[in-house]
Amino acid sequence: MEELDLAFVEETVKRVGSGKEKVLELLQAIQGHYGYLPNEALRRVCELTEITPASIAGVSTFYDQFRHRPAGKHIIHVCIGTACHVKGAESVYDAFRTHLGIPEGEDTDAQKLFTVERIACLGCCTLAPAVQIDDVTYGHLTRETVPQVLSDFLKHEQARAASPTKSHGLRKGKADPRGEVRIGLGSCCVARGSGKLHGALQEALAQTGLQVPVKRVGCVGMCHQTPLLEIVLPNQSSHLYARVRPEDAKSIIQRHFGVRGPHRKLSNAVSTALDRLLTDEKWEPVTRYSIHVRDQAVSDFLGRQIH
Ligand code: FES
Ligand code: FES
Repeated sequence: MEELDLAFVEETVKRVGSGKEKVLELLQAIQGHYGYLPNEALRRVCELTEITPASIAGVSTFYDQFRHRPAGKHIIHVCIGTACHVKGAESVYDAFRTHLGIPEGEDTDAQKLFTVERIACLGCCTLAPAVQIDDVTYGHLTRETVPQVLSDFLKHEQARAASPTKSHGLRKGKADPRGEVRIGLGSCCVARGSGKLHGALQEALAQTGLQVPVKRVGCVGMCHQTPLLEIVLPNQSSHLYARVRPEDAKSIIQRHFGVRGPHRKLSNAVSTALDRLLTDEKWEPVTRYSIHVRDQAVSDFLGRQIH
């Protein structure tokens, strides 16, 4: 087994102090650094301070925040607060464990990729049942969406690792104040042609000279209706189009954002065809959110993390 580097413990004791009353602060720092409380680190704390093993045992078992075994690379916090509990949080928790093959008495999968933990209210109860994986929040989970959430998270991680500082917007420059276009690019969406639709949108925007931002969103729980397109205009409810074909892209853009030049009005036939693609279904926020999402932003689709 690899030897633990204890330099952090020594530096922390120097910085925090060695009195008995420092036990909580030191344990928090150690857990923050190593991800759990390694025995070697705790022994070193006892050697360097007035803190006793009994005191460490008492404090570290009293608070749920402390782990005594290594965690996986990513921590899945399944909220079991009241709102999430009544909406099936336990079943979601079980589904994560089952899907990851975590045996009874353990909380981490065999690959040490994910640790699953229960947690009290995450502060985004309108997303109940909600789950946070590292700094990414997912809402409205069901047992069935658990595999989708995990694969979305891993893809998101890959993308993040590949371009840690890249802006998520598709277009650079100033956004058009008249609104934006959102396109679902989760795996089902892509399998059913959203990639082509995305290309067609970009082409339509280039042809019309409009600077409307196109934003990509992950799975929004409407996989049966893909490819999906949402038009968001300021101070209006949004327009959600389902089963959109690439050839519809230009007309949809023209309809909502207008075009420069002589042919700006759509024919009745085109308008009627587009109406048929509009759906009353809600683009439910079941995809990932930035960590700071809280209730107000939840009701506002713009709070969703765009990738
Ligand atoms: S109870 Fe789960 S987020 Fe509040
Ligand atoms: S993957 Fe597109 S809505 Fe689910």
